[in-house]
Amino acid sequence: MTASETIAATRLAQLAHDIARHNALYHGNDTPDISDADYDALVRENALLEQQHPQLVRADSPSRLVGVVPSARFSKQRHARPMLSLDNAFNDADVADFFDRVVKFLRVPVQDLPVVVMAEPKIDGLSLSLRYEHGQLASAATRGDGEEGEDVTANVRTICDIPQILTLTHAPAIFEVRGEVYMAKPDFAALNATQAAHGEKNFANPRNAAAGSLRQLDASITAKRPLRFFAYAWGEVSAELADTQSAMLDLMQRAGFSINPLVRLCTGVAETLAYYSELDARRAALPYDIDGVVYKVNRLDWQNRLGQVARAPRWAIAHKFAAEQATTRVDAIDIQVGRTGALTPVARLQPVTVGGVVVTNATLHNEDFIAEKDIRIGDTVVVQRAGDVIPQVVRVVLESRTGAPPVYPFPHICPVCGSHAERETDGAIMRCTGGLVCTAQRTLRLRHFVSRAAFDIEGLGDKRIEELCADGLITTPADIFRLHCQVAALTKRDGWGGQSVNKLLAAIEARRHIALDRLLYGLGIRHVGESTARDLAKAYGTLGALQATLQAISNERTDIKNIQAEISVAQIGPVVAAALIAFFTEPHNQAVIADLLTEITLEDYIYEVQTSEISGKIMVFTGTLEHMTRDEAEARAERLGAKIAKSISSKTDLLVAGAAAGFKLKKAAELDIAVMDETGWLALLARH
Ligand code: IVH
Repeated sequence: MTASETIAATRLAQLAHDIARHNALYHGNDTPDISDADYDALVRENALLEQQHPQLVRADSPSRLVGVVPSARFSKQRHARPMLSLDNAFNDADVADFFDRVVKFLRVPVQDLPVVVMAEPKIDGLSLSLRYEHGQLASAATRGDGEEGEDVTANVRTICDIPQILTLTHAPAIFEVRGEVYMAKPDFAALNATQAAHGEKNFANPRNAAAGSLRQLDASITAKRPLRFFAYAWGEVSAELADTQSAMLDLMQRAGFSINPLVRLCTGVAETLAYYSELDARRAALPYDIDGVVYKVNRLDWQNRLGQVARAPRWAIAHKFAAEQATTRVDAIDIQVGRTGALTPVARLQPVTVGGVVVTNATLHNEDFIAEKDIRIGDTVVVQRAGDVIPQVVRVVLESRTGAPPVYPFPHICPVCGSHAERETDGAIMRCTGGLVCTAQRTLRLRHFVSRAAFDIEGLGDKRIEELCADGLITTPADIFRLHCQVAALTKRDGWGGQSVNKLLAAIEARRHIALDRLLYGLGIRHVGESTARDLAKAYGTLGALQATLQAISNERTDIKNIQAEISVAQIGPVVAAALIAFFTEPHNQAVIADLLTEITLEDYIYEVQTSEISGKIMVFTGTLEHMTRDEAEARAERLGAKIAKSISSKTDLLVAGAAAGFKLKKAAELDIAVMDETGWLALLARH
């Protein structure tokens, strides 16, 4: 490979990874984190590189995928005709090129010029294919990867815009109607208000709300969501129904579907572009989101002759709108503290309407973003809302800056708890070091503290932790062990009967003796997961020994790179080492730990590997064990000299299968690996 090929190959690998991730965020229920324009730029970069280096096209190239693979939860349905995607036009020249290509490909005779296209708003929802057999709705599927989608028939039957029976006198034997499921803007706002009232997550935008609502496993939930549908295309059809796109739209309307009222036939480039500008101007006022205009060659005989290239038809193109922008003033910059203590600056803006939505805040990401754009309080800024993402500040309008407002001083102190904040060495994020003391982080940290792999306190779920925190009954981990002094306050609560309070207090008492690794994990130190906590416990044996080492290192101000060597735990790298030092040298954390140690007794980590019948064997645990947690079982096996693996391979020596074991048990049988049930496992433990 030449140097430029190596660079291109590396970039293509990165693009495949990034685009796949954005696809998953976009098509799943999650919130996308880049704008459509940025996404399109990645896709274009990928296409360009592939064009320049056709030999480097990857098997997993994004250009080979129309959407993402269907989610495993719904049964799959193959589309009788693939569901295509559209190529994009970003400017007038791209649109003119489209018309040119059509004319050249078909050799359109002069008398048929200019070409007539059906221009349709590009609805920002998700596409759906509806199969009607003899006029009856037989099945419905999402697009999925274009070839195979998810069977959402039950859910689709709850959508009012979608007829169960076609209102045609002579319905064809097979008629697949395709179009877009979407949620209207006012319905979206109302849904989010209800979600918030029930303490549920808000949807980022109408598109995500529509996707999340359609892809509910329980159709009765979909039924409660205000979904709508516009028909604009078709798949398999057993008879020829019309000879133009516009006649097909009319027919689908007669069949009982909603057709977008703004569709219009346009003759030639100029008329088409005028339609685009008109729609762009009306866009914000429309009751649903659109992200562009789709132009389709109106004559169906021409559509057939034009056919398709790769994943998109030659007879259609999507002309995207630019992200909507507006100008407003930064009134203030606030700092929000996240779960992991990240300090995120947020611009408080003079309310401004961008794309039909009133924007009052925009994320400023981090210290560097503010510095790079030189954003100061009082500045006039251009903000942008690109379809689905959170509003962004694009730039400062320097001409409008009056006087010399001071450069924004990014805080080095957590605004919530006053702890020292430290900037990540490898990024731009400033983080509060207050840990469990910081109220913003406290609830989530306490939830972690009592979780299964940490203190494992039964009866103290997320909701109860939240209630207790909100009422100030607990603020630090030690307070959990003082709850027995609050019996009266506890039993007064709704849903906290005397019985359940007693049970909870007993569960807490049972954890006053706790293993060192559980404590280390439970403290929620960044980068310290279960296995790192175990490695640390194994290496140091006592909390005192670990703390003393960390203190010594920090006193000497040793270079981070050397910490790894000094910490003397092979598995621990400089990032974990730095996180440990930051945590244990923070005075607030030291106080919290000291307080906790007055309530609990730490069991030093005694880790002597015994020689046993499973010494050196590779073991896997699966299914539910009745007498101990999986963690404990694995720890006991390790103590008996076994090595634990998470998945079955030909190297596995023994599988312990608890109740409801599934895939791993099957795989072990296939590979002829020894299997033991829980009784056998308990007997083995008893022998040692
Ligand atoms: S036609 C073969 N028409 O845009 C042509 N698509 O970027 C198939 N969309 O997957 C699509 N409004 O989800 C078409 N009026 C419209 C549309 C439209 C929205 C969506 C659709 C498609 C995506 C392509």
